[in-house]
Amino acid sequence: DDPALLAAFQARIDAGEKIEPKDWMPQGYRKTLIRQIGQHAHSEIVGQLPEGNWITRAPTLERKAILLAKVQDEAGHGLYLYCAAETLGVSRDELTEMLLDGRMKYSSIFNYPTLTWADIGAVGWLVDGAAIMNQVPLQRTSFGPYSRAMIRICKEESFHQRQGYDIMMKMAQGTEAQKRMAQDALNRFWYPSLMMFGPSDAESVHSAQSMAWKIKIDSNDGLRQKFVDQTVPQAKYLGLTIPDDNLTWNEDKQGWDFSEPDWTEFFNVLKGNGPCNHERMEARNKAWDDGAWVRDGLLAHAEKKRAARVA
Ligand code: ACO
Repeated sequence: DDPALLAAFQARIDAGEKIEPKDWMPQGYRKTLIRQIGQHAHSEIVGQLPEGNWITRAPTLERKAILLAKVQDEAGHGLYLYCAAETLGVSRDELTEMLLDGRMKYSSIFNYPTLTWADIGAVGWLVDGAAIMNQVPLQRTSFGPYSRAMIRICKEESFHQRQGYDIMMKMAQGTEAQKRMAQDALNRFWYPSLMMFGPSDAESVHSAQSMAWKIKIDSNDGLRQKFVDQTVPQAKYLGLTIPDDNLTWNEDKQGWDFSEPDWTEFFNVLKGNGPCNHERMEARNKAWDDGAWVRDGLLAHAEKKRAARVA
């Protein structure tokens, strides 16, 4: 890229201007955005699977309707994000193919199973809670279509987080067995939720450049700390215990000290070896294959219309 163009581009970023799809941008900026928005979109889509698992088994009609609406919201988020990525010159089909052949990732968190109804509460409370912590600052990301998609997504994610916390409240105030279930869900989802923010800043390969371009606003460790500080009092209110013996209030930093997640497990999940990686990819592959006739039909129809116009 031409150094003068790069300098002018960086000056626009530093001045807080939004970059729009038709503006000049460095190749690396475009590539990073396609990677991040694409991974984000895939996460929303794959994220429907662990929750979809409980739609037929929700304990009441009301809970079922709420969960159904939430899972549909996630599909919508995936679609806005694919649209935002498409403005960068990549098609949704290409993004999907990259997911299916392993060139693109989705969030590690969705490779963990939802074993009980309390897990649906923990997913809403912790997973959507972590997602919002990461996404609220992304409303100010430098790429216009991504930042605008984030505004609506964050509104819906806040509702998701509240519904998850509401489930946890019911369970935590319920019978001994329900309380045990809530605690067990927290025990299993705590560290995987901390992993959602990505590796430590020292290990994060993309952070420095992404922050300079304001693609990312906060660092992985910074957001993880904020999430812990927000969640500890919420767990206390529920009467549940965060599964970390090292959790201590640090007066100097006005925040909690906590144990790092097991990063070996994190990188292993990223390599495809988490508890549900295989199952998740199988579901996405099946959906893609089952939808082939629709794509073929749409293409044939478009071709017929084009031929009719030419004739
Ligand atoms: N799950 C899977 N992969 C991850 C995760 C994670 N939790 N965290 C980091 N990685 C990957 C990165 O994608 C990168 O791999 P790549 O080069 O093959 O893409 C590698 O680990 C190194 O990490 P970083 O250099 O820190 O990567 P990055 O700067 O992209 O930061 C982050 C990762 C924080 C997840 C960032 O991409 C981001 O903010 N994304 C948007 C939010 C998002 O995707 N949320 C999805 C979950 S929320 C939801 O769907 C409800």
